Amino acid sequence: NKPTIGVIGMAVMGKNLALNIESRGYTVAIYNRTNARTEKVVADHPDKQLVPSYNLSDFVNSLEKPRRIIMMVKAGKPTDAVIDQLLPLLDAGDVLIDGGNTFFEDTIARNQRLDQSGINFIGMGVSGGELGALKGPSIMPGGQKEAYDLVAPILQQIAARTDDGQPCVAYMGPNGAGHYVKMVHNGIEYGDMELIAESYNLLRHVGQYSMPQLAQTFKEWNAGELSSYLVEITADILTRQDDQGSSKPIVDVILDAAENKGTGKWSSQSALELGVPQSLITEAVYARYISTFKEERVAASQVLPQPQTTDLKLSADFSEQVRQALYFSKIMSYAQGFAQLRAASEHYHWQLNYGEIANIWRAGCIIRAQFLQKITAAYQKNPELTNLMLDDYFKAICAKYQAATRQVVAWAVQAGIPVPALSAAIAYYDSYRSAVLPASLTQAQRDYFGAHTYKRVDQEGTFHYSWYEEQ
Ligand code: 6PG
Repeated sequence: NKPTIGVIGMAVMGKNLALNIESRGYTVAIYNRTNARTEKVVADHPDKQLVPSYNLSDFVNSLEKPRRIIMMVKAGKPTDAVIDQLLPLLDAGDVLIDGGNTFFEDTIARNQRLDQSGINFIGMGVSGGELGALKGPSIMPGGQKEAYDLVAPILQQIAARTDDGQPCVAYMGPNGAGHYVKMVHNGIEYGDMELIAESYNLLRHVGQYSMPQLAQTFKEWNAGELSSYLVEITADILTRQDDQGSSKPIVDVILDAAENKGTGKWSSQSALELGVPQSLITEAVYARYISTFKEERVAASQVLPQPQTTDLKLSADFSEQVRQALYFSKIMSYAQGFAQLRAASEHYHWQLNYGEIANIWRAGCIIRAQFLQKITAAYQKNPELTNLMLDDYFKAICAKYQAATRQVVAWAVQAGIPVPALSAAIAYYDSYRSAVLPASLTQAQRDYFGAHTYKRVDQEGTFHYSWYEEQ
């Protein structure tokens, strides 16, 4: 019998996704640009229902119709190259799925282009790394709804499951919606990682915690409100010694220069375009950037003075205060992320379902965390919620944890420890809850130097002040 679905791209993500699908009882066609890779997958898995092809036309012809094809190739030009080769081989009604970390605007354009030939194009965010792809990722598909329905039964079987058994996949919306949601997922991932890194830095260099104490603290945090994959792996990482023989903790021999593949940057760029604040993710992107200026930082560390205050009078429950600051800031980050999704949904007419998005992030993906259930609950209670902070549960946490966040940020500033993401969190909270902001002065300046006009608090209309006339 003909394979139900095919996977193009046998690098680790594609291979693992193919094996995952096969493990649910499907015959899977596989193809890779270089034959050797396909041969190796077949040789390594002789007992699996994998049908290899060594040219694209054999691959396409081997598939059951309407054809279902998942591309797991590098985003950008390589993806376009595969699409160009496939297009003449496909028929109207076929479903082509891009499972890479593709920029959502490329997906919108490809969806439109293929639609002209009657070919369905799904942009599908896949999160969870290599193991996720194999065992159960979180899947964020967007494109034609009818096309999603054709692959939904397979996706539901291969996706991760929440602890109450729900598959971590749902239809996100038309054209680029799936890749957009994955992009924001990645941005949030950057934010979570940076918040954890700042908290670790504070415990280590302000609290003077030893490595075993640090590992223990993250382990304890993982048992409570902060329970999440990223906190869990942090606890594990902090127990690990160098495996190259230096007898140092592994984090002390890894170069402090963090790389990125661009999804966090896209997330910030899109927020800027849409006119919504995304300060926390953006600070996380900048934190990675500044980390790469290693030589400049080392040179600056010799010449720029550090703060003189050393007596910080930390309280006995320092780590609890850092924990509260971390949770508070995580809430701000997700509040910004979901507000961005809301703005994008309106702008691109996607009708995103925020509760569902939080739900499919509960398992399988990198940002999986217990607290996502609270987000789902918040949107179930009020699908029109303007900002997550306004939900009763989150409002109560903000009320309880804001004091600790202020204190921790103040200590960090006094100690000269950079906390860009934690600071962005409290600044966002304070800006959002301010009935009056100093933007009136900004408007006055704009009107002063450029006659940009201003609006008034007490009258309708547009005004211009005669700045250059004597009063
Ligand atoms: C995931 C990850 C995955 C990948 C990122 C990492 O959800 O499984 O987000 O997509 O690890 O691309 O991004 P950086 O290389 O930019 O850190």
